Amino acid sequence: MSQKPLTIVIFGATGDLFQKKLAGALFDLHSKGVLPQKYEIVGFSRKPFSHDQFRAFIQNALAVRAHGKIIEPDEFVSHALYHQGDLMSAESYESLGAFLAERDREHGVCSDKLFHLAVPPNLYETVFTRLSASGLAIPCAPGLPDEEEAWTRVLVEKPFGNNEKEAARLDTLLGKLFEEEQIFRIDHYLAKEAMQNIISFRFSNGLFEPLWSRKHIERVEVRFDEKEDVATRGSFYDGVGALRDVGQNHLLQMLALVAMENPKELQAEPIRKARARVLKNAKVDFGSILRGQYAGYLAEKGVSPDSKTETYFSLRASIQNPRWRGVPFLLRSGKALKEPEVSISVFFKPAPCLCPEAHKNAHQNVLTFSFSPKEEISVLFWAKRPGFDFQLEPKRLAFSFSEGVIEHKIPNAYERVLLDAIRGDQTLFASTEEVKEQWKIITPILEKWGKLPLHSYEKGSEGPAEGARP
Ligand code: BG6
Repeated sequence: MSQKPLTIVIFGATGDLFQKKLAGALFDLHSKGVLPQKYEIVGFSRKPFSHDQFRAFIQNALAVRAHGKIIEPDEFVSHALYHQGDLMSAESYESLGAFLAERDREHGVCSDKLFHLAVPPNLYETVFTRLSASGLAIPCAPGLPDEEEAWTRVLVEKPFGNNEKEAARLDTLLGKLFEEEQIFRIDHYLAKEAMQNIISFRFSNGLFEPLWSRKHIERVEVRFDEKEDVATRGSFYDGVGALRDVGQNHLLQMLALVAMENPKELQAEPIRKARARVLKNAKVDFGSILRGQYAGYLAEKGVSPDSKTETYFSLRASIQNPRWRGVPFLLRSGKALKEPEVSISVFFKPAPCLCPEAHKNAHQNVLTFSFSPKEEISVLFWAKRPGFDFQLEPKRLAFSFSEGVIEHKIPNAYERVLLDAIRGDQTLFASTEEVKEQWKIITPILEKWGKLPLHSYEKGSEGPAEGARP
């Protein structure tokens, strides 16, 4: 790990994302000793915090995450500093710039700088423009040693833009301010251990890859069922909706990993290209789209009382290439559903079986990559039920990621995101091409949204009755 100082600037540091995910991930990276020796976390937000108040805020976030377990983040929080500012005001960026330059002068060297935009996507354009206008996109103040060597990178949360046109405009703007190598577009699902394992599983085992096509696969289901409702995120979620929140990114990346061609090399560029290529060939069957909203959503804090925002969608897609032509990819996601289940299930075509006539049908093998509630890969297969009769019964072979591993050693997605951005490895981040292809798939659906019925469903149900499981 580099000995050069690192400054991680969090825009929107007093918000939900920093509190729930980033503070914990940074603490874990710190505890594992993988951050540079000299690093600072600079919180930038509107709340009038002192450095100490920001440190107490982090301590509190860590205590909530640890469910009251005693942790001692004192050394960690000493790395945190706070700079109050308004994301909309140019002066705030000027004063942040002066603050960072002052810190660099104190260190006597230019620090590497990572800017993390943990802010609502509608603020991106303003933040990018102000960042650039204030000179913050340049690693450090002139006159300090190491000026050539230090880097500046920017971490952007999804959804990137609101539709195809807006994403393209943002991309052009971002492209003027930063090189593609400096831009890290987060899709934290890509950074999950179980998602990364899809590549190893598919391309390093001779068992399944020969079967990985329309010849043997009947359908693929990508499911993103959440039990939680929008909780405290109503004001972010309303107007965004399920399709933009998780469909445009997490679900399409799940589809891309399961359907892409072999990238041949474990390098960022070929992997990102392979994901983009398969997305380019994905087509949605418009007749299959269903949207829903859970009963009670309109009363959630931050939600407009006449909101038409969907908290559920399902659709059928296909991939127009020789490997997948004719294979349905069924995607669905919802909040406030009965059970949490985030998974990709690959249904193989039923095989003829050597068994009595009454048991001949529906002998299907299913391979499932599960992300929630458990990170696991399992295969459903058929075996003879012990006994005098010849009857078949389904059995599961499962491999769990956490078994035999002390849990905290598996890096969580945000640890991975932050560490890879610091290392400069873009493999687990969406490229501009991927984001473009994702919006190309989603935007035509969004344009039809207003004309489609919005079905109501009960909290804790399976979603709208019209969308029963296939
Ligand atoms: C986020 C979405 O990207 O992913 C949330 O904005 C969703 O709505 C979350 O709940 C799910 O992520 P995880 O890692 O908790 O499964």
